[in-house]
Formats: sequence, C-alpha cells, structure tokens
Amino acid sequence: MSLNSPAQQCLTELYPQMVKWRRHLHQHPELSYKEQETSEWIAAQLAELPCEIRRNVGGHGIVATLRGRETGPIVALRADMDALPIQDEKQTEYASKVPGVMHACGHDGHTAALLAVARYYAAHPDSFAGERRLLFQPAEEVTPGGAKEMVGDGALQDVDVIYGVHLWTPLPYGTLSTKPGPFMSAADEFEIEIEGLGGHGGLPHQSIDTIMIGAALVQALQSIVSRSINPLHPAVVTIGSFQAGTTNNVIAEKCRMKGTIRTFDENSRKLAHERLETIIKHICEMHGARHRLHMKIGYPAVVNDEREASRFFEVAKQLVGEEHAVMADAITVAEDFSYYLERVPGCFMFVGAGNPDCGAEYAHHHAKFDIDERAMLHSAALLIGMAEHYAGEKK
Ligand code: NI
Repeated sequence: MSLNSPAQQCLTELYPQMVKWRRHLHQHPELSYKEQETSEWIAAQLAELPCEIRRNVGGHGIVATLRGRETGPIVALRADMDALPIQDEKQTEYASKVPGVMHACGHDGHTAALLAVARYYAAHPDSFAGERRLLFQPAEEVTPGGAKEMVGDGALQDVDVIYGVHLWTPLPYGTLSTKPGPFMSAADEFEIEIEGLGGHGGLPHQSIDTIMIGAALVQALQSIVSRSINPLHPAVVTIGSFQAGTTNNVIAEKCRMKGTIRTFDENSRKLAHERLETIIKHICEMHGARHRLHMKIGYPAVVNDEREASRFFEVAKQLVGEEHAVMADAITVAEDFSYYLERVPGCFMFVGAGNPDCGAEYAHHHAKFDIDERAMLHSAALLIGMAEHYAGEKK
C-alpha cells in the first residue's frame, strides 16, 4: 500500500475522528478487567457499521467481523484497550478525568486506530477478499491477560494470520520497527520467604540468620544467567525487593524477596525456573532455614513469524520509506500478544510515536506519557497494509 492508496486517503479523512476517539478514551480510562464502559463505547462506535459484532469475548473483549466481496483469508487485527493505575500529570485538555487511572501506554491510540480500520473496511467491502476480524482486547497489562482469555473464547477460530501494533514513544514518529523471531520477553515473577531463627545479634551461633542466607541467595541467583543459560540466549534475573530485619542487634528471623525472570525462549525459561528452585532449596537447607517459593507465571515471549516479519519490511518501506522501516532489537518487556502468536503466525510491530515537540517524550507507564497522535495513522495504515499484502499473496 502506498501513501496515495485509497486506504491511505480514507484514513487521512478519518484522522480528525481518530483523534476525537483517542481523546475520549484518554479522558475515560479504565483499569484491566474493568473496561466495561470502554467496551460498551467501542461497541457503540461499531454498531453504526455493517459488521458482525461479538461482545464479552473472554471478558470485556469485542470481536468485529467484516466480510469482503468473496471468500478469502481470515486476517485478525488486534488492539488492546486497558489503562494503568497512574495519576495523569499531563497539562492537556484531554488529560484523564479519572483520578489515579491513566492511558499511559497508548492503548487508547491502538483502539482508535483499529476503529478507523473498521470504518475503512466497512466503507470498502469490494476492496478485499475474506474476513477481517478486529479484536478489541481488554486486560493486556495484568496477568493472566485478556489475550489468553479471548483465545480461549474462540477469537482466533479459523484465523490464518494476526497482526498487532504498539505505539512506541522511544521510537521517533515516522519510524516503524519490528524483528523476526523472539521480539519481546516472557516475564515471570517470584516471591521467596526464608524462615530462620531470630535471636541476639551478639549470639549468632544460637540463631539462623536469614539476612546472611538471603544475601547468599541474591548472589547465587545471578549464576542462573551467567552460568546456566546459553550466553547466546538473552535472559534477566532481577531481585527487586529484599526485606528483612528491624534493628542492629537482632538476628532477622524472616527475609522476603521479590523478583522477575525475563527470557525469550521456552528452554531458557524452564531452565531458569528449575535453577531458581534448586538454588533456593539448597542454600536454605545448607543453613538450616525453611523457605517458601511462590512463582507467578506471566506471558510467554512474543515470537514473530519470520515470513510475516519480512512482510512488515516490505509494507513499512512503502509507507514510510526504507530508512524509516528499521530492524528492532529484542526487548525485555512482555506483551500478551504472545498468546495469539502461539496459535497462528503473525507479527507484532512498533509504531514510532515519540516527538518532543508535542510532549511525546516520556517513557511508557510514565505519569506524563503522551503520543504524537499522527502515529495512529501509521498504525491503521500498517495494519491494513499487512492484511492486504498477505491477502494479495494468498489469491
Ligand atoms: Ni502497552
């Protein structure tokens, strides 16, 4: 799809509407699993269109199906819709009206762009063959994740391929990016509680010191990445919280730690979990302490299909020019788009939304987060471009 295609023209006409949609959502954010009004609002926008709507798919999810002129591939396009528990600190007329809740990740823009995609397909049924299935997904930010529940509720039934975008402020507006293979990491969390024996700080031989054991554990857990996992397979083990003890002369009876594990392949993930359990068990046993380990399994890694990632570069080049269609590095944040990619081939893509001139210079999940809204046009054009490139190939 070139910049002058009918789709691009249609989207350009829809742009003011896209901004209105996005700003409405931005002012009325809802937390993960609580997107009832957002879901109703999306359904109301879709109700005007000649499309089939399935509501309450895997929670507050909506699946909108648009059919083309003849049978053909079923292409799924996905947007997430949930916000975050952050107080909006932006000084704009469209700042959040809900105290402590904010669209600080751009999901409002994803939804607005997908609504524009729906409008385009509804207005041009003769321009495509097959089905375009639009997935408006809730609860991306909180495990178990809305994607998993939508998949469980049949959202991907008979789907041939799926595409999704994330507006991304670390990338300048005008740039599009992804990579083949592992793109975003799996993220699993854990909590450890060590129980020793409290006592007098001057009489350590009569107690079991959980601070010493915890410190040994923090050190030993770093050997998972440095000594157990293949150095060519990226991984992170972080202890983000370590709490124990009260004062100078008391041996801490309990020590609590919290951490996260990031990996890009299932072998490394499994190995990291096994080593974590083994190391904790043996270090605690060695010192005569008891322990409790609680694992919270997060999203798997986002793994892009090789063919679909190369399709991205063909489509993105036409949209923004070769120099702005860039190969991404893998990144150690998680996304539940992985659950779709476990089932069907597809590609998850970053759309540059950063621009200091319009205040879009803050990281995702920051209280002053904002986007260059024009990036929504790229999001919609990229989704349609990918879908039609795929469908053209399957003729
Ligand atoms: Ni996000």
